[in-house]
Amino acid sequence: MSRSAHPAGPRHADVLPEGHYTAPPADLNALDPRVWSRTVTRDADGVATLGGIPVTRLAEEFGTPAYFLDEDDFRARCRAWHDAFGGEADVFYAGKAFLSRAVVGWLHEEGLNLDVCSAGELTTALAAGMPAERIAMHGNNKTTDEIERAVTAGVGRIVLDSFQEIVRVAHIAERLGRRQRVQIRVTVGVEAHTHEFIATAHEDQKFGIALADGQAAEAVRRVLKLDSLELAGIHSHIGSQIFDMAGFEVSARRVVQLLAEVRDEHGVELPEIDLGGGLGIAYTSEDDPREPHEIAKSLSDIVTRECAAAGLAVPRISVEPGRAIVGPTTFTLYEVGTLKELPGLRTYVSVDGGMSDNIRTALYDAEYSVALASRVSSAGPMLSRVVGKHCESGDIVVKDAFLPADLAPGDLLAVPATGAYCRSMASNYNHALRPPVVAVKDGKARVIMRRETEEDLLRLDVG
Ligand code: LLP
Repeated sequence: MSRSAHPAGPRHADVLPEGHYTAPPADLNALDPRVWSRTVTRDADGVATLGGIPVTRLAEEFGTPAYFLDEDDFRARCRAWHDAFGGEADVFYAGKAFLSRAVVGWLHEEGLNLDVCSAGELTTALAAGMPAERIAMHGNNKTTDEIERAVTAGVGRIVLDSFQEIVRVAHIAERLGRRQRVQIRVTVGVEAHTHEFIATAHEDQKFGIALADGQAAEAVRRVLKLDSLELAGIHSHIGSQIFDMAGFEVSARRVVQLLAEVRDEHGVELPEIDLGGGLGIAYTSEDDPREPHEIAKSLSDIVTRECAAAGLAVPRISVEPGRAIVGPTTFTLYEVGTLKELPGLRTYVSVDGGMSDNIRTALYDAEYSVALASRVSSAGPMLSRVVGKHCESGDIVVKDAFLPADLAPGDLLAVPATGAYCRSMASNYNHALRPPVVAVKDGKARVIMRRETEEDLLRLDVG
């Protein structure tokens, strides 16, 4: 295992310490509050419950596999992020982590803004009544259609990702008779994942305009010349599943440095900076993420200090957490099917879902926790690998986990912290039907995204 960050993407799981998961936990029935959403607990019979509803009842009513989302937890996390900056910053939830109309409604009610990165996400946001001025539009290759729709809707900002896009957005805004607020996304030469960050030469990626070689300064020059664009600020996003604030520190310092250069060259102080998302969550008990208020304090302190040094007024900060809001709110519930014991090695526990509902383990070597949810057990620990039902040996949900040795077909397993990038990256591989998302609030469960059906499959297949 490498302890250095992977330059190509959010491979956070390959930077975990060596020797991870070699010993069983003290209590196999425990549900660590760090990885489970707030209203999850076991009832008197030992059945795991969400908002007071036993998972056995949830499985009966909604089937498995299914994602169960703790709405109170989601809303509490929105409020925690909103309040963390004391109203002095704007929080844009990153819709790519998980987006549905119900989610948009909650964000709206809790005072959050929304970052979208495609026409589909924009349509969902608008359909659910998110005011356009609270939407930011991202993407490294926005189509003309996407830009037109964003400008026409009146989104609060479009984040410009390239030199070509400066021209494209300016032309479209001009044609539509609009003045579009924009930010410029810069790549600051920092790549951060989990506990590591690299502060050299990570301009080698598709996103943004490099700060290096004066490219970002040139982008600012061009945008300021265009009447149909209003340059609101500079945007930077440095990675995913980040615990270490050092990467944000370097990034904020470099962005503020650019603001100072812009002031010196153009006599303009840009009013906004966006420091992106990427804040880490606990997937296992080993992960120890920081609370939103600590993160907010740290980011505000860095920006305030750097601005004071540069003699700049402190710009309005925005952040774009996706995973840190929705990730911990959800667990996936599966039913155990086949068990295959390899004596002295491990037991393969097959569940009724897999890489079609959680591709993150196969794609990033992501680590997850898992618990027997339909009952408690006093059996000893069994080293297990929880696998799916797809035709591929890399179809792994949880690579190494200890489950009770009396695990049997029909038991329910729950995998926590699957709220981010699981449903949103789900597929129909092997013509699997994507599972529903069921939100639980005040002891009531409702489907917010229904299970796909075979009719859905056949409707797309036009023969
Ligand atoms: N802002 C921008 C510009 C982004 O590109 C992203 C994520 C976010 C915010 C939100 O990042 P978050 O706070 O959710 O980490 N599929 C991967 C993650 C890809 C993240 C892409 N960009 C995964 O499953 O880990």
